[in-house]
Amino acid sequence: MNTVKTKIALAVGEFLAAKGAVVEDIAGLLETPADTKNGDLSLPCFRFSKALRMGPPMIATQLKEALEGAFSEVERIDAVSGYLNFYLSPAFYTAALERIAAAECFGSSRVGEGKTVCLDFSSPNIAKRFHVGHLGTTAIGGCLKNLYDFCGYTTVGINHLGDWGTQFGKLIVAYKKWSSAERVKERGIKELVDIYVRFSAEAEADPSLNDEARAAFTKLESLDEEYLAIWQSFKEISLKEYMRTYELLGIEFDSYNGESFYNDKMDAIVEELRAKGLLVVDDGASIVRLDDYDMPPAIILKKDGSTLYATRDITAAIWRKNNYDFHKCIYVTSAGQSLHFAQYFKVVELMGYDWAKDLVHVPYGTMSVNGEKLASRTGNVILLDDLFAEAIAKAEKIIEEKNAGLADKHATAEAVGVGAIVFGALRDGRIKDTNFVWEEALSFEGNTGPYVQYTYARAASILRKSEGEDKASYAAYAPLKEESGLVKLLSAFPDKVLTALGDHEPCVIARFALDVCAAYNLFYHNCTILKSEGEARAFRLTLTAVTKHVLGKCLDLLGMKRTEEI
Ligand code: ARG
Repeated sequence: MNTVKTKIALAVGEFLAAKGAVVEDIAGLLETPADTKNGDLSLPCFRFSKALRMGPPMIATQLKEALEGAFSEVERIDAVSGYLNFYLSPAFYTAALERIAAAECFGSSRVGEGKTVCLDFSSPNIAKRFHVGHLGTTAIGGCLKNLYDFCGYTTVGINHLGDWGTQFGKLIVAYKKWSSAERVKERGIKELVDIYVRFSAEAEADPSLNDEARAAFTKLESLDEEYLAIWQSFKEISLKEYMRTYELLGIEFDSYNGESFYNDKMDAIVEELRAKGLLVVDDGASIVRLDDYDMPPAIILKKDGSTLYATRDITAAIWRKNNYDFHKCIYVTSAGQSLHFAQYFKVVELMGYDWAKDLVHVPYGTMSVNGEKLASRTGNVILLDDLFAEAIAKAEKIIEEKNAGLADKHATAEAVGVGAIVFGALRDGRIKDTNFVWEEALSFEGNTGPYVQYTYARAASILRKSEGEDKASYAAYAPLKEESGLVKLLSAFPDKVLTALGDHEPCVIARFALDVCAAYNLFYHNCTILKSEGEARAFRLTLTAVTKHVLGKCLDLLGMKRTEEI
C-alpha cells in the first residue's frame, strides 16, 4: 500500500508544482475510506484550494484527468465532491500477495539490529504463589520480548525475583516456630504461604513478633550461615513452582538475578549517591529529595540502615547498564508501582546518568476478583495453577466431543486452554483495570484465543490437503472483494508489529489477529478453495499460506502455541 501511496503523492505533487504550488506530505493526506464504495484511498482536495485559487471539486476533476491511467495499481479514479477516490486494480492485489508470499519472514524487521533491550517482567516475590495478578506482567512481558526479538533486537529477559527484604525475616521466624525442613519439603510453597499467613495473624496479637522478624532479617543480611541456608531453600522451592508455570507458558528468562543479587553491590551505590550530594538524612533515614519534581522523597536507607526495594532497583539499573549496555531497559509491572519507577528513574537521572531516559516503565491495569482487591492474606485470589487446570480440562472435554481421534489430544488441550487465558490477558489493552470472571476467562467462543488457534488450524488443514501441488501463476487473476480485503489486511502486518512495539501494546497484535480471522473466515465461507482451479486456486492457496504465516506469527508473538490441528 505504501508504494502506491508514494506514487500517487509524487504525481499529485508534480501536478501542483506545475501550477506553482508546493504542498508537503501529500502521502499523509491520503485517507483510507471506511467504506470501499468510496475507493481504497481518497485524497481530500480542500488543502490545495488556497494555493491553486480553485474550488476543491474543480481540483479533483483536473487531478482525475491528469492521473487517469498513470498507475497499474489503480483501476479507476473518481472525483466526488472535492475528493479524489482511487480504486485499486486486481494487479495491485496479485502483486501485493506475491510480495508478501516471497518475503523471507513477512512482518519482521531489522530495526533493532545491534541494539540490546532488557525486559524485566514477571518477577514474583518468592514464597508467594502465582495468582491471576501475576498474569499481566508475565503475559505482557513475554509478548514484548517476542516483539523485540521479531524486530531484530537482542533481548535479555530478566526475572527480578523479589527474594530479599523484611518479609524474609518474618518467614524465618515463622519457619523456626511452626514448621520444619520436612514440612516444607512435603508441602512446598503452600507451607510457606501458610506460615506467613499465620505470622501475620499472630503478630497482630503479639507485636513483639515483628521485632523478632526485624532481628532475623538483620541476621540474614549479615549473611548468617544458618539463615542463609533456610532462605536459599525457600527460594529453591518457590522457583520450582514458578518454572512449571513458565514452562506451560513457553516463557524463558536469560537471568534470574533477583533483588538479593544486588546485596553486595548496594554499598557502592549508596556511597556514590552520598558523594554526589544527593543523600539527605531525614529523621534517621537517608533519602533523596524529589520536591522539585513534585514527588515524595526516594528512601534509600531506613533508620536502621537497611536497604529498600528502590535501593536495589537503582543498583540493578546501573549494573544492567554496565553489563548489557542496553538501548532500553523495560519494566512491566502493575500501574500501582508507577510512582516507584518515576522516583527511581529520577534519582538515576540526578546521579548524572543520561541513559536514565532509556528506563521505561510499562504499566498495566490492576486486576480484581469479585470486584475486590486481590489479597493472598484474605484468600481473595485465584491461583494460576487452578486457572490453567480448569482451562485445559475444558479444552480436553471439547476435543473429546468434537475430535476424539486427534493425535495428541493432551498437548492440543494444553495449547488451547493456556492460549485462552493468555489471549484474554492481552486482548483488551494493558492499561484497563479488569475484574476476573471465571466464565470469561474460560470462554472459547467469539473473540478468544481458541478462535485464532482454530482459524490457524483451518488454514493449516487446507494447506496439508494441497501439499506438493504445482501452483499456477495468478498474475492475471482478478480477486473478489473478500480476497482483496484479506490481502489488504495482511499487508498491514509489518505496520501493526511496529505499532505494538512502539506503544508496548500487545493488544494491537491480538486485535489484528482477530481481524485476520474474521476476514479469512469470510473468504473461506464465500470462496471455494480446494474445489477451485487454475489461477483462482493458486491465488487462494497462496492467500491461505500467507494467512497461516501471519496468524502463526501472531500466535508466536502473543506467546501462544500454534495448533496445526484441533
Ligand atoms: N517483585 C515485584 C512485585 O512482585 C516486581 C518487581 C518488578 N521489577 C523491578 N525491577 N522492580 O511487585
